[in-house]
Formats: sequence, structure tokens, C-alpha cells
Amino acid sequence: MSILSTKKIILGVSTSVSLYKSLDLIRVLRKQNIEVHVVLTENASKMISKNLFEVLSNNFVHIDGQIDYSKLSHIELARKADAIIICPATANIIGKIANGIADTFLTTLVLAANCPKLICPAMNSQMWLNSIVQENVEKLKRHGFKFVEPKEGILACGIQGVGKLASINEIMFNLEKLFIKQDLKGKDVLITTGATIEKIDPVRFISNFSSGKMGKSLALEALKRGARVKLICGENVEIEELKDLDFGIVKVQSALEMKDAVLKNIGNCDYFISAAAVSDFKPKRFENNKIKKKDILNLELEKNVDILESIKNMKFKKKPMIVGFALETEDLKKNALLKLKEKNLDLIIANSIENLGSEEKEVVILDGKREVRIGRSARGDVARLIWDKVITNFL
Ligand SMILES: Cc1cc2nc3c(=O)[nH]c(=O)nc-3n(C[C@H](O)[C@H](O)[C@H](O)COP(=O)(O)O)c2cc1C
Repeated sequence: MSILSTKKIILGVSTSVSLYKSLDLIRVLRKQNIEVHVVLTENASKMISKNLFEVLSNNFVHIDGQIDYSKLSHIELARKADAIIICPATANIIGKIANGIADTFLTTLVLAANCPKLICPAMNSQMWLNSIVQENVEKLKRHGFKFVEPKEGILACGIQGVGKLASINEIMFNLEKLFIKQDLKGKDVLITTGATIEKIDPVRFISNFSSGKMGKSLALEALKRGARVKLICGENVEIEELKDLDFGIVKVQSALEMKDAVLKNIGNCDYFISAAAVSDFKPKRFENNKIKKKDILNLELEKNVDILESIKNMKFKKKPMIVGFALETEDLKKNALLKLKEKNLDLIIANSIENLGSEEKEVVILDGKREVRIGRSARGDVARLIWDKVITNFL
């Protein structure tokens, strides 16, 4: 369950051409059952009908110029809010809030609320880079406002520059982050995920069914908790859900490439999570030409590189906490404990075959003395519980 699903969010919409994108944001919020209360600035209500917002949010929409002075509805809404997000935010609304102006429903509400506030600016690049706007942004940051900075792209005015509204994926990520303890702030996390592939000839390879979903969820969770995250992933890993987020992503094919990437990055990390399904075997020889069709093909396989083995005795300036995964079809716990010991891991996560490619996972976390079972749950929840244990070392 998303941490946002019990939250009440106020969405302020001001008059940028990109305001149509706030409709998509409402849809994503509503899909997660989040209560959304929209406040349109008066100018925004001239650009787009409030009916659309009402239909999508399934709630009454407030319009700035139509304050009902017989009620204290701005205070009522301010008290209710778990977070206020202004998306898109114009230079005008940023300037007003930064200067304590409370001349409309939205600006009054922002001053009256003490919940977290997220601002998503969108404007022409000259406006964004204007030192007055930048000063206002810096001032709001000093006052605890969070920003999802606009991006570089072709703007509505036809020019290329910075000022484009951030993607809904990035906005949702930052909204969620408002409610998450930043207990990995300043830490470096390295994660491997997905399947490696070992080429047989130019068109064929051996691999496995690992999708890389668990590693991706662990990477996302670490990023939400404030870590700098590098993800080394197999070619097959879908990275759509990580789009526009601040990850270092390295794509690799073979176990050897993955090992090289790990060795290059492990020296300065605080946590290394080895969640990739690395092929244990590889073809003894690679055929330069496509192997011709025949009745029987005997493929000789040999032992592949073992990434955890190669870092087992490494001398570190600062030793990272090393977490491994074990996937077994039999004697899961026994084999996981064996791997924990043999590879000198700090923790191991025992993973049954049913987890492969699945959106829901069931795992056991072991450190040789203690164990915690996480029953079948959404992979995001499993990732959160794994990080809770990793960070606190089981406490
Ligand atoms: C078609 C059009 C598009 C605009 N787009 C933006 C924009 O993307 N960002 C911005 O800061 N201002 C933009 N403006 C200017 C604002 O709409 C103007 O500053 C207005 O006073 C903002 O009102 P509000 O902040 O109360 O919604 C645009 C104006 C027009 C006419």
C-alpha cells in the first residue's frame, strides 16, 4: 500500500499552459485512492473549466476569486491537508507566496497550513532564470518548501530551454518523499538486479527468468529515503518506472560485465545489495557465426564468474554492508544460510521460485542468528520492510 493512500492532498493549479498536465496528476493520485482537493487560481479557471477537475478529483473545486467570506473554508482546508502541491506553479504564485502575500484563497491557504508543501514550477526559461524568480525559489526553500525543478525541453513558446514541468512520475516520487524518513540521506547504495545473459552465438544466449523488479523496488525505496543510488541492471530490466528520477543506471549483459561494474563502484558505497540473478554457467566457447540447425547440439557450459566471491576478501577503506539474495527450489533456508556464510554476507534474503517476475513477493531475511519473515506483499512494501531491517540491523 502506498504511503500516500490515506493522505489528503490539496492541489493548487495556477495559470501555465502546462496546467492540463495537472489533470493527469489527479488521475494518478486518485488511482491510489488519495483524497484530492483542487484549488484553481482565478486566471487558471479562465483557461480551463473547473468541471474537468471536479469530475476527475470527485470533489468540490475551489476557485481563488470566489472566496466565500461567510465561511473560514481556507482554514478548514488548511487543517485537513496532509500536503499542498502547487502544480503547475507560475512565477506569479511563487512570488506571492515567497513574499507572504495572502490575497487569494490559494495563497491564504498556503500561509495558513503547516503541512509539507511541494512546488512544481513551469514557465518560459527567461522567466525561470530571472534572478527575482530564483531568489523567490531560494527563499521558499529556506522556509522548508520542496521543489520539483522544471526540466530542459521545447517549451510552449517554441524555444528550447529550462522551464518544462517535471514528469508526473518525478512529481509523484517527490510527493511520496515528503512523508518518508530520510534515514539514508548522504549514503551511497549500490544494487545489482535482473538477469545476466551469456551469449552462445551472435543471435542466441542463455539466461533466466529474473525480471529485476525486486532490485528496482529496493533502489526506489533507497532513493526515497535520501540515498544516492546506483543500479547495475541486466539488459532485460524495464526502467520505465525509474524514468526521470535521479539514479545512476548502468546496463550490462554478461556476468563479467556486471562484475566489472560492481568492482568499479563498490569502493565508495555504504550498502551493496546483490539482487541480480547472475548466470552460474556460461557457454565454454562463443561461436562467431550462427550455429546451423542440426538434430542435436551439445552445448558445453562452464562455471561463470562469481561476483560475491570476488568481493568476499576485498580490502575496503570503509566496508559496505553486503546483502545477498538466495533463490532456491529446495531447502531454501538451509541453502540461504550456507550462502550467507560462504560469501561472508551481512544479511541474506531467501526468495522462493514463486517470486520470479511477480508483483508480489514473500521473503525471509536472515543474518545467521535471527530471521524475519515478510508474508506475500506488494514488492514496494517488501522493499520498505527489507530496508527497515537493513538500516537498523534487525533492531
Ligand atoms: C497563454 C499563457 C500562458 C502562460 N504560461 C505561463 C507559464 O507557463 N508560467 C508562468 O509562470 N506564467 C505563465 N503565464 C503568465 C501567467 O498566467 C500570469 O503571470 C498570471 O498572472 C498568473 O496567474 P496565477 O499565478 O494567479 O494563476 C501565461 C500566460 C498566458 C496568457
